[in-house]
Amino acid sequence: MNLRIDEHPILGKTKRGEKVNIVVDGEVIEAYSGEPVAVALLAAGKKTLRKTGKTNEPRGIFCAIGLCTDCVMTVNGANNIRTCITPVEGKMIIQSQVGSGRWKGDRSDADEQ
Ligand code: FES
Repeated sequence: MNLRIDEHPILGKTKRGEKVNIVVDGEVIEAYSGEPVAVALLAAGKKTLRKTGKTNEPRGIFCAIGLCTDCVMTVNGANNIRTCITPVEGKMIIQSQVGSGRWKGDRSDADEQ
């Protein structure tokens, strides 16, 4: 099922960038260069982009304009990237994030032992 809008009644035909592959939680997904990462994931059927740190509740696209931070993910090793306003580039490595994500020196693994 294609969830992307190919032709809008007012805006006309959608212009897309080249087809590229991105890796999301280890899975290769086809996307279009320049479209928002969150849009590519939604088109691939992925609605949950992160989970909250305290209660582990799922979050996904909410505002879609870069204000709410519900869509933050780890992109190419950088945490807290708002995927609704981050354009797809080929070979991106994207990971679902829990809470504030992990970073160099993160001690969350040590706390779990
Ligand atoms: S959905 Fe709100 S910042 Fe991305």
